[in-house]
Amino acid sequence: MTSKEEHMLEALKLAKRGSLSASPNPMVGCVITHKNKIIGRGWHKRSGENHAEINAIENVINNLGDRSKEVLKESELFVNLEPCTTFGKTPPCANSIKDHQIKKVYFSNADKAQKGFSKTYPEIEIESGLLEAEGRELNQGFFSRIEKGRPYIKCKVASSLDGGIALSSGQSKWITSLEARKDVHRMRAYSDAILTGIGTILNDNPHLTSRDSGLNESLLRQPLRVVVDRNNTLTGKENIFSSAAKTLIFANKHSQLEDNDGIEIAKLKASSNLPLKEVVSYLAEEKLINNLMIEAGSGIINSLLLEQLVDELIIYKAPKLLGENRQSFVNLDVVAENLGTIDIKITCIEKLGADIRYSLLPKY
Ligand SMILES: NC(=O)c1ccc[n+]([C@@H]2O[C@H](COP(=O)([O-])OP(=O)(O)OC[C@H]3O[C@@H](n4cnc5c(N)ncnc54)[C@H](OP(=O)(O)O)[C@@H]3O)[C@@H](O)[C@H]2O)c1
Repeated sequence: MTSKEEHMLEALKLAKRGSLSASPNPMVGCVITHKNKIIGRGWHKRSGENHAEINAIENVINNLGDRSKEVLKESELFVNLEPCTTFGKTPPCANSIKDHQIKKVYFSNADKAQKGFSKTYPEIEIESGLLEAEGRELNQGFFSRIEKGRPYIKCKVASSLDGGIALSSGQSKWITSLEARKDVHRMRAYSDAILTGIGTILNDNPHLTSRDSGLNESLLRQPLRVVVDRNNTLTGKENIFSSAAKTLIFANKHSQLEDNDGIEIAKLKASSNLPLKEVVSYLAEEKLINNLMIEAGSGIINSLLLEQLVDELIIYKAPKLLGENRQSFVNLDVVAENLGTIDIKITCIEKLGADIRYSLLPKY
């Protein structure tokens, strides 16, 4: 690994500190080097607060005092996302980089939401694409929202060895081990929203909040709970209406449910067929959701697969057999009829307690 890559890796590590708080903004980290040694570090904590570049420049000023002015002119800046050029809640980082006469800027990924750093300040030398793949993976939710107009969609499934997600009675608690369930609570914490269907609400009555994840509670924000209820089955008394987190219900226009503290009802056209594409686009555009987690049964999972909306499947496989009358997580006949076989790439296999966690990418 070159020293340039090492510096960018450090910037990416710093960026990850924002993983519970930066959204809807991207996770961004920055290091400033002088004669190849790191002299300042910064990361972006949350929307409205300093961007990573500003925090890194301030860190250099704190570290070097009066000397910082001259040293910064001979410095290089490594940041995983192209510096911003427009006024948002804070002034453009590009201006600050120019004002401090930083010699060269390296970034991993271009930011299509911006005007282009190189166009704004052509006099500053830049090198883009350094650890580009790592940068894109880190901010896959943000890039999905900006480029595709929908969140990155991760679908969690807890299943038995024979692919069952529930007994024929609908009962599914608890297929997997405590360790796997803790991991699910962490996944919830890293998601901006969790979407489920009416079948899961009626069978499991889940709270869909992140609890006992072991993560830093002071940074943790509960994800938005989203339920698709196109036939207006919800009564308003289910656990997802608790005050523990905000909830958005997609109901049809005849719904009697009303908005109140933390509860929002998005009224749909009274059609029985709602493309989930419309739901996830709404979540990106109106709610700025970068990362969407799905915790549902085969009804919602099938629809999402048919619309090619699942970006990643996380399957926890427990060493259990649910037998012939199990509910499968996906109705393969329907999928096969419409798409042919869905091939899946395995990206990671991990043992969690008694279970195995598969990270899978469907190849549509
Ligand atoms: N093991 C696990 O990881 C896990 C996780 C969650 C749930 N589960 C289990 O899964 C079972 C529930 O499965 P399910 O399939 O009934 O639940 P579901 O996926 O949560 O909800 C299914 C419902 O979603 C609606 N739906 C389907 N496609 C839609 C679309 N394109 N647009 C809008 N709505 C759509 C339909 O309701 P309408 O007909 O009313 O529109 C359908 O009945 C339960 O037994 C639960 O325990 C297991």
